[in-house]
Amino acid sequence: MTSRILLIVAIATLPCLCTAYPTLLDGLHEREIKGSQDILPAYDYIIVGGGTSGLVIGNRLSEDTGSAVLVIEYGYLDNNPSQIEPSSSSGGAWPRKDLYNLTSVPMIGLGNRTSGVYAAAVVGGGSTINGMMFDRGAAEDYDNWEKLGNPGWGWKGLLPYFKKSTTFDPPDAAVANEYNITYDASYYGTTGPIHASFPSYYWPGAKIQWQAFNDLGIPSNKEGAASGGGSGVYWNTDAMTGDKRQRSYARSGYYDPITSRKNFNLLTGYRVNEVQFSANLHADNITMIARDSPAGSNVTTVKANKEIILCAGWLHTPQILQRSGIGPKAVLNAANVTVLVDLPGVGANFQDHMGSRIAYQYNTDAQPNPQSFKTNSTFNQSSIEQWKQRKGPLSLGNGNTVAKIGLPHITPTNYTSIITRLLSQTTQYLPSIYTNTTKAGWLAQRDLIAANYGGLSSAVVEIPFSGGSSASMGLEKPLSRGSITLSPSNIYAEPILDYGTLTNPVDLDIMISVFKFARRWYAAQTALSTVEVTPGVAVTSDEGLGDAVKESAFPSEAHGCCTAALMPKELGGVVCPELTVYGVSGLSVGDISVLPMVPGSHTCSTVYAVAEKAADLIKARHRTVYRP
Ligand SMILES: Cc1cc2nc3c(=O)[nH]c(=O)nc-3n(C[C@H](O)[C@H](O)[C@H](O)COP(=O)(O)OP(=O)(O)OC[C@H]3O[C@@H](n4cnc5c(N)ncnc54)[C@H](O)[C@@H]3O)c2cc1C
Ligand SMILES: *[C@@H]1O[C@H](CO)[C@@H](O)[C@H](O)[C@H]1NC(C)=O
Ligand SMILES: *[C@@H]1O[C@H](CO)[C@@H](O)[C@H](O)[C@H]1NC(C)=O
Ligand SMILES: *[C@@H]1O[C@H](CO)[C@@H](O)[C@H](O)[C@H]1NC(C)=O
Ligand SMILES: *[C@@H]1O[C@H](CO)[C@@H](O)[C@H](O)[C@H]1NC(C)=O
Ligand SMILES: *[C@@H]1O[C@H](CO)[C@@H](O)[C@H](O)[C@H]1NC(C)=O
Ligand SMILES: *[C@@H]1O[C@H](CO)[C@@H](O)[C@H](O)[C@H]1NC(C)=O
Ligand SMILES: *[C@@H]1O[C@H](CO)[C@@H](O)[C@H](O)[C@H]1NC(C)=O
Ligand SMILES: *[C@@H]1O[C@H](CO)[C@@H](O)[C@H](O)[C@H]1NC(C)=O
Ligand SMILES: *[C@@H]1O[C@H](CO)[C@@H](O)[C@H](O)[C@H]1NC(C)=O
Ligand SMILES: *[C@@H]1O[C@H](CO)[C@@H](O)[C@H](O)[C@H]1NC(C)=O
Repeated sequence: MTSRILLIVAIATLPCLCTAYPTLLDGLHEREIKGSQDILPAYDYIIVGGGTSGLVIGNRLSEDTGSAVLVIEYGYLDNNPSQIEPSSSSGGAWPRKDLYNLTSVPMIGLGNRTSGVYAAAVVGGGSTINGMMFDRGAAEDYDNWEKLGNPGWGWKGLLPYFKKSTTFDPPDAAVANEYNITYDASYYGTTGPIHASFPSYYWPGAKIQWQAFNDLGIPSNKEGAASGGGSGVYWNTDAMTGDKRQRSYARSGYYDPITSRKNFNLLTGYRVNEVQFSANLHADNITMIARDSPAGSNVTTVKANKEIILCAGWLHTPQILQRSGIGPKAVLNAANVTVLVDLPGVGANFQDHMGSRIAYQYNTDAQPNPQSFKTNSTFNQSSIEQWKQRKGPLSLGNGNTVAKIGLPHITPTNYTSIITRLLSQTTQYLPSIYTNTTKAGWLAQRDLIAANYGGLSSAVVEIPFSGGSSASMGLEKPLSRGSITLSPSNIYAEPILDYGTLTNPVDLDIMISVFKFARRWYAAQTALSTVEVTPGVAVTSDEGLGDAVKESAFPSEAHGCCTAALMPKELGGVVCPELTVYGVSGLSVGDISVLPMVPGSHTCSTVYAVAEKAADLIKARHRTVYRP
């Protein structure tokens, strides 16, 4: 017993005895390389995608100075200084050049509308362009992952990685006191690459909105939105530095600080096409092409001595797998791709947070309020002055107060009948590519969600509020599922994307209840003299509210995930708890695709934690240990 413990300790504390490749490292001189002519023929690790997770894993694997690491990214560096300002966090500011261009298929749950798609195409990925809202899901959300057959992937297993990836920058004590900002710093790290902070200003109307939630029985959660708590009203941080209030993201945290590392290369402007497998299904190489080259021309091959790690995001990780012959047989056959592994989960289990909007007007709004930049030039001017010290109203991003509400709080009278309706379903609402195993996976998820619906340990809806008069309400535990599949006419074109939004009628039932709840919430904000604008007080029937939900609905909060999920193969999983892909060797996934179920939060903090854990798992399996 004792000797076993000693051995484990010894393994954990040994310096890395990795095999070094001095001949490879000799050739590396520069981090960012712009053409395949500068590429070595082989690396120890090839990371596909230099987005959020790809830069985390690239950084951590290249800490072993004996390992040569290549990250290949389709996008480029975005050096626009305004991209790190708080103002870059709002929807209208998302830079088109850093996004992929594609449209969903008609959404049958939303009257056959189509939708644009949020998927980042830039070094740092989503973290470079996102809204910087930096909260976490409930502990119960991650515990669901573990219950699906993934030991080590619950809240307890992930918390060390949430901490490792973050540094908490506390608010100024006077500011915290003035606004009653509450948090528990122990849920964050103290030296992690990504900073979590609060602005120095809040709109006074948010206090009235907060109190109105309390009046409806939603408790204040004092520990903050990183603590894994349940139904409640929370303070949440932004992914910004506390002093300058600048974007803290994968590039600033994980890429810029390792400029001097000789064993790390980032190739920008290249698209990875396929993974090449040897006869025994070992992932040998990747093939790639400069993004502006004509299709099929000048394909370059790079070999991985140890492992290829896919970090191309929820949209392209399944596409690369399918192009390489790993995916649902019918999808590959339709696209004339030779099937190496029939793995139905690749591109299935697609989830995002849909949401709907309700619009109100405040006839006696608090002063100042978010309109004051426009309506009060004194306020506007003083804000500009304060921002010279990086303080005041312009230090605000998307807002830092949020309600995350469980179903019994949304509808105390109806939540049990909603659960009954859900448990009477089978798999009739799933997209056509779902097979026996992916259907079994959904049934297992359904049972977990039904159990969650009965309690207050996690949220079914998120309502961010910060003084504005209208609200966007996000469905945090969607039952509807979508799919990502190769375009049969051109496997190098963007894949076919089906969001599946509101195809499961229980999702619609819940959103109707959420609209009714929202009306009660506004009614409780008496000081603001609220007036409903849309859908309007005349709409009262469930049918009318259902139409209002659909008309104002958007399919995505840019939280796409789960398309190469961590689950047992029998449940439609694509990777095992080690994150390696079933049926092959030398290939793993480290991005948001591995999430089995979307957590009830914005997704970036979870991606950092998952990628940090992925890096530890990868390092551990390639570490050579002397056994005397
Ligand atoms: C507009 C927007 C707003 C968001 N707002 C928030 C928010 O406020 N808070 C929050 O927590 N989360 C937010 N998110 C979500 C969060 O940023 C993402 O969940 C997270 O960044 C995903 O990380 P990832 O590593 O899985 O993928 P990404 O960061 O998207 O990285 C994938 C990378 O792979 C590259 N790639 C793809 N295919 C290939 C290929 N074939 N070859 C080479 N490279 C390839 C892509 O160009 C991309 O850079 C937002 C996302 C977006 C897009
Ligand atoms: C093809 O790629 C090689 C390096 O792999 C490069 O030297 C050459 O310029 C490229 N040719 C074209 C036409 O892009
Ligand atoms: C998407 O289109 C914009 C132009 O609207 C372009 O700048 C950008 O490069 C395109 N994105 C990709 C990934 O090709
Ligand atoms: C949506 O499209 C489907 C398939 O084409 C069709 O059956 C259905 O009637 C359409 N729905 C609406 C509301 O137009
Ligand atoms: C802050 O909280 C305290 C106690 O929780 C409360 O008495 C006080 O009114 C609050 N102040 C504001 C400005 O909300
Ligand atoms: C991988 O690339 C090497 C070097 O180019 C080549 O010899 C090998 O055949 C490739 N492997 C596969 C499976 O194509
Ligand atoms: C399918 O692929 C094979 C070989 O990979 C090729 O010979 C054939 O022309 C392809 N068929 C179509 C319809 O693209
Ligand atoms: C605030 O003032 C600045 C500088 O005078 C001006 O450019 C800006 O348009 C004003 N903002 C609004 C919302 O009116
Ligand atoms: C305009 O803003 C200034 C500075 O914040 C404030 O003192 C003043 O009361 C505001 N005026 C109105 C009409 O709200
Ligand atoms: C899928 O499930 C059905 C019904 O349970 C069964 O009849 C069928 O044989 C299964 N197919 C496969 C491929 O397992
Ligand atoms: C509960 O369900 C009934 C019947 O569907 C509906 O009329 C009522 O408005 C619902 N209540 C809430 C709070 O959602």
